[in-house]
Amino acid sequence: MSQPKVERLKINYKTLEEFQKFREYGLQELSMLEDLQANIIENDSNSPFYGIYVDGNLVARISLYRIDAKYDRYFEPAQDYYELWKLEVLPQYRERDFGTALVNHAKSLGLPIKTNARCRSDEFWLKMGFQPVNYDPMRDRGENPFVWLPPGVQLRG
Ligand SMILES: CC(C)(COP(=O)(O)OP(=O)(O)OC[C@H]1O[C@@H](n2cnc3c(N)ncnc32)[C@H](O)[C@@H]1OP(=O)(O)O)[C@@H](O)C(=O)NCCC(=O)NCCS
Repeated sequence: MSQPKVERLKINYKTLEEFQKFREYGLQELSMLEDLQANIIENDSNSPFYGIYVDGNLVARISLYRIDAKYDRYFEPAQDYYELWKLEVLPQYRERDFGTALVNHAKSLGLPIKTNARCRSDEFWLKMGFQPVNYDPMRDRGENPFVWLPPGVQLRG
């Protein structure tokens, strides 16, 4: 099968309408909509989301936020990294490597990645080459963090 194309999503009314199909539609999307309506952000500005389209419809998405090295409490040496969340493939498009393609795209950006493995998805993250971290209650506060380390990067402590 050919590699699915991963695209950076623009913030516009069409994208926000597509987001309503996803289970994890919430405050982040609503605030984008408000910012768009109030002209705080421009139509078609870049979003932290990347996605895959099939026949013009968004069927899979991921959100990637770059965190500054000064807030890094996971990696050695301390460095900028990506916080990954809202990875979701619409149910009828699962098991077609779309999730893998989105995660590979995140890895291709070359920085370590941290995610909170929810929905009993540990097995998926292990398959993606992520590893669990030793739980630190002060740092992790109820999360289930999994990380991906590029060459030369280690887990702290
Ligand atoms: C988890 C999710 C993103 C996977 O997307 P997908 O496109 O179906 O994944 P892929 O087709 O790329 O699958 C890659 C591998 O992971 C496995 N896999 C997929 N979903 C899995 C899950 N929930 N648990 C364990 N393994 C899973 C696949 O069987 C496949 O294994 P294989 O390489 O041995 O065949 C998708 O099921 C989803 O959106 N789930 C709901 C939201 C969610 O759980 N998000 C993630 C953390 S909050």
